[in-house]
Amino acid sequence: MCGIFAYIGRKNNASELVLLGLKLMEYRGYDSWGVASKMQTIRKTSDKRKNENKSQFEVEKHVGKIGDAILSRKLKYTSNLSIGHTRWATHGGVLEKNAHPHLDCSKNIAVVHNGIIENYVELKELLLRKGHQFTSETDTEIIPHLIEENLKTKGFATSVRDTFNQLKGMNAVVVAYSLSSEIVAAKNGSPLVVGKSSDGFMIASDTAGIIKYTNEVLFIKDDEMVILGKNITLLTLPDGKKITPHFTKVNWKIEDTSLGKYQHYMLKEIYEQPKVIRNIAENYTQQIHTLGQIIKKSKGTFFIGAGSAAYACLSGTYLFSKIARLHVNMAFASEFNYLEDFLNSKSLIIALSQSGETIDIVEPLTRAKSKKSKIVAIVNVLGSTLYRMADYKLLLGAGPEKAVASTKAYVAKLAVLYSLSFSMIGETDKAKGDLLTVAHEIERILEPKFAKEIEKIAKFLKNAIHIYTIGRGASYPTALEAAMKIKEVSYVHTEGLSGGELKHGPLALISKGSPCIVFAPNDETYDAIISNATEIKSRGGVIIGISPFNNSVFDYWLEVKNLGEASIIAQIVPIQLLAYHMALLKKLDPDKPRNLAKSVTVK
Ligand code: F6R
Repeated sequence: MCGIFAYIGRKNNASELVLLGLKLMEYRGYDSWGVASKMQTIRKTSDKRKNENKSQFEVEKHVGKIGDAILSRKLKYTSNLSIGHTRWATHGGVLEKNAHPHLDCSKNIAVVHNGIIENYVELKELLLRKGHQFTSETDTEIIPHLIEENLKTKGFATSVRDTFNQLKGMNAVVVAYSLSSEIVAAKNGSPLVVGKSSDGFMIASDTAGIIKYTNEVLFIKDDEMVILGKNITLLTLPDGKKITPHFTKVNWKIEDTSLGKYQHYMLKEIYEQPKVIRNIAENYTQQIHTLGQIIKKSKGTFFIGAGSAAYACLSGTYLFSKIARLHVNMAFASEFNYLEDFLNSKSLIIALSQSGETIDIVEPLTRAKSKKSKIVAIVNVLGSTLYRMADYKLLLGAGPEKAVASTKAYVAKLAVLYSLSFSMIGETDKAKGDLLTVAHEIERILEPKFAKEIEKIAKFLKNAIHIYTIGRGASYPTALEAAMKIKEVSYVHTEGLSGGELKHGPLALISKGSPCIVFAPNDETYDAIISNATEIKSRGGVIIGISPFNNSVFDYWLEVKNLGEASIIAQIVPIQLLAYHMALLKKLDPDKPRNLAKSVTVK
């Protein structure tokens, strides 16, 4: 959510470096983008000695995705100090004027920001009274003007520090100053990482933006501030005490993120799922065993996650109950803050996350850590905030997931939870065999013959106003995830329900033609969910069955073979494809749904 990249150093193509860095982090935000670069202009006078040497920021801003962006001639090859941002709007519409960087009145200060300034209204009023001119509707724009005010009596770094200390909320702020040729960054929320190369420094919201240039990185912690110029200085916040910066060398490979033969990342990632599951089946036995031992020692285990990851957590509770006969709790990470008063040093929190940056997860974990609870991260991104804060870490190994809608990371989480449940009862071999069968079944679902059937259903569903998805037991989380996939990429309102809940209210919505997707695996839920489907059909509903068996109640049938408890992993795949095709038919970009971002770093 909001990508930040800034460069200061000896290279004079800073603007281009920034643009490329932002492109590498496009998944963080893509409603608009902007770059500001320091420009040196000389205003000639009759007396050569009195020529005016001005250095100010030139800004270029655009609404839209940064993927294909090219810089105008003005910003090319001319600067050694540049700062840029990809925006995910919080305050103010998606307009050019609201894109970052924002400048002060003198154009010497350029600011990019990730977070929300909770007290910006009062600060803006104060600045307006002092005569500052605002050009945007954002909360961010108060920052350069506050710094400008502070600069009247203090140096640059102190002005940034004092300004940051005035802001309420969880924020990461990067400020460039043309007069001293410095960058100062401060944070108490969203991630920031500094990279050191032979020619200078860069700072970004994600290592993904930096790793192409250097593998020497410094993760800025909350309540720290860094000054980058010819050298680096690291300070504590709010008081500004010097601390020694310790750079680490990361040996991460730049993983292949090209589209290859695929039209979209979502499709590519759907097709990568068999490989991801095989990897977990074949290589995770030891790590999963260790995690199982950690769970056995805890007094109270909580799975937390957000969105699709939360649904994977919910699946985990069913798998643990059925297979391991163990009770584990599940909470939506954004609600966990309000549920954690009872946590103590014996509690174990297992956080599931693709990005490892989701603020709704990081925030409650910070509190849980202060209560000495143990943290486990089941995460896809190496070196992410969640990865770094966890006591025990298990990487999903799904490879970069670039499409905003999670597919392969979601099934990877399910595969890990499935293996973990069996590991708790010492049956890792059974889990391994089952997962290999799942991978095989997903390959069958991905064959062109199956895709044809899905495209037919996508045509029927694309103009629907509402769709319902139902499941029971371990298929209830699948119904929730299915609804999520369809709504986020096709923009058709889709509601996921447990079959049993229908009669308690939602059945009132069913009328002639209401489409309903029914998950009916070969388990103890089969008869009851078919009865629910029949109740919907009797009221005019159209039933799309996902099941090993065709049933007379189904108007459409998508076969997912019986895989026992592992069926929940394969049965989401036809819906991922369905959502993808619905998006295509509606001429939407399935990789970048409106209003969403891949890494959700604001509350
Ligand atoms: C939906 C989706 C989101 C994420 C959620 C958590 O397709 O991708 O619901 O699952 O934002 O993100 P991570 O897993 O990065 O913590």
